[in-house]
Amino acid sequence: MVHTGSSILFFSLLISSFLAPTHGKKQTEALGFLHKSKLTKNSAVDTSSFEVIQRDRVEVLPQEGLKERDRIEKLPGQPNVEFSHYGGYVTVNETTGKAFYYYFAEAQKSPHSLPLLLWLNGGPGCSSLAYGAMQEHGPFRVHSDGKTLYKNRYSWNHAANVLFLESPAGVGFSYSNTTSDFERGGDKETASDNYVFLLNWLERFSEYKNRDFYISGESYAGHYVPQLAHTILHHNKAANKTLVNLKGIIIGNALINDDTDLVGIYDYLASHAIISDESLYQIKKYCNVGVNATPPSLDKCRAVGNDVYMDLENIDLYNIYAPLCHNTNLTQKPKKGSLLDFDPCSDYYVHAYMNTPEVQKALHANVTKLSYDWESCSEVIKYWDDSPSTILPLLQEFMENGLRVWIFSGDTDGRIPVTSTKYSINKMKLPVKTAWYPWMLNGEVGGYTEVYKGDLTFATVRGAGHQVPSYQPLRALSLIMHFLAGTPLPNTSRHD
Ligand SMILES: *[C@@H]1O[C@H](CO)[C@@H](O)[C@H](O)[C@H]1NC(C)=O
Ligand SMILES: *[C@@H]1O[C@H](CO)[C@@H](O)[C@H](O)[C@H]1NC(C)=O
Ligand SMILES: *[C@@H]1O[C@H](CO)[C@@H](O)[C@H](O)[C@H]1NC(C)=O
Ligand SMILES: *[C@@H]1O[C@H](CO)[C@@H](O)[C@H](O)[C@H]1NC(C)=O
Ligand SMILES: *[C@@H]1O[C@H](CO)[C@@H](O)[C@H](O)[C@H]1NC(C)=O
Ligand SMILES: *[C@@H]1O[C@H](CO)[C@@H](O)[C@H](O)[C@H]1NC(C)=O
Repeated sequence: MVHTGSSILFFSLLISSFLAPTHGKKQTEALGFLHKSKLTKNSAVDTSSFEVIQRDRVEVLPQEGLKERDRIEKLPGQPNVEFSHYGGYVTVNETTGKAFYYYFAEAQKSPHSLPLLLWLNGGPGCSSLAYGAMQEHGPFRVHSDGKTLYKNRYSWNHAANVLFLESPAGVGFSYSNTTSDFERGGDKETASDNYVFLLNWLERFSEYKNRDFYISGESYAGHYVPQLAHTILHHNKAANKTLVNLKGIIIGNALINDDTDLVGIYDYLASHAIISDESLYQIKKYCNVGVNATPPSLDKCRAVGNDVYMDLENIDLYNIYAPLCHNTNLTQKPKKGSLLDFDPCSDYYVHAYMNTPEVQKALHANVTKLSYDWESCSEVIKYWDDSPSTILPLLQEFMENGLRVWIFSGDTDGRIPVTSTKYSINKMKLPVKTAWYPWMLNGEVGGYTEVYKGDLTFATVRGAGHQVPSYQPLRALSLIMHFLAGTPLPNTSRHD
């Protein structure tokens, strides 16, 4: 077992960052769950992991009239808006009765010409409605009363038509009528189901069929996004035509390459004065982290694990300088919502809002009366099967196929920190096209960027945690606009 030592350490790391919410799992715990199951088996590189599940044909069901049925009139507590939004189910497997829930916010202006952007959250098991739509870059945020919404003026639907998908089955409102579906989840199955969802959704919203299409996501979506893109390329090639007009992908604070992702965490924690240099030294020596590690010593690894546990116990590993949520209660009257000062208790507001029957009705969600609550990260998915140790070969495949590839990183995240992402990118040994420079927004450094030959852009977002648009909404909006336009991040504020 290659990772025994570090798995124990990892486990204690994750417990520490999990602030015992009164409900559901948080992203923190969800990623831990993955690593725990992953590290119990050999995780050698295996390219067969990327085999696309073969089907005789991808089932595209008739979709007439369903788009209008899915139109959302108005959500409870919602301010007036000019754009159209939709929510509903797409059946991805008729036999097992599996259906995925989506929320779609059309662009504020020019929905007919702006691209289509899919957003996926990670986990595995976390909801794109919980994080992406309601806490990151969707058009609304939930007030502290758990009942009313306010507008997010930095919403990504200023730049694109944005589709939020709850995937796989068991996440949020997405379900399966065959409970054994929850016991054999994994990357391949998810990629395949996401693809079936997409083809059927494009049939329902047929005006988007030939539209430029991009896939975005964060955290464990570092696996979902490339694997869906890979599936799309595969089917386009097999059909010898463009079934889905995929132009590029963008992933943030993403799980990319296990070994480098792991070393990057400890290097980040030590260099940010969270753990001691001595702890870092011992982790590398005793926990088999890093390439040239000596054989692990379980007791010594455990001991340093305890030290690290205490160091992390009272900070938010997902945004190391952020305040914690000290009162999870809703407020009678809504506190004034602040876009630029993210409320660390937001998860609780969203949880209350999404579990309100009138909200579910307005969203056309939970139509089958599921037996469990809506959670930001699934409690239903019990098992995660295939999870390759690296997705680097896919990024190389995309570059060879002329797709745009951007990787961003909020630089105050300690969970999949900027060091991890840099080490992972370095593994590809790409030649530099534009050397490292600060990118600018409104006279401030928005972050730093380096562009590689083959069309891969790496960009940091300064002062942002794991969920970049939660903490730096304006910088995140600027980033996605430049990505979609295919223009380099500006080196002076004049190029905004
Ligand atoms: C539906 O799911 C079953 C069980 O996983 C699988 O065997 C079958 O191929 C799926 N059908 C389609 C059309 O995807
Ligand atoms: C799941 O079962 C419910 C209740 O029988 C049914 O109404 C629904 O259509 C099924 N879902 C799918 C995707 O077949
Ligand atoms: C693929 O389609 C192009 C035209 O779009 C055609 O020229 C070519 O022969 C096709 N290739 C195969 C293998 O069918
Ligand atoms: C939260 O609400 C509960 C139940 O109403 C109450 O007992 C508790 O004191 C509240 N907590 C805080 C920190 O206000
Ligand atoms: C679905 O609705 C039922 C009530 O009909 C509720 O008990 C359950 O929590 C809801 N589940 C989800 C996932 O929304
Ligand atoms: C800044 O960006 C512009 C436009 O991309 C480019 O022409 C110029 O060379 C860059 N300047 C520096 C100092 O990098």
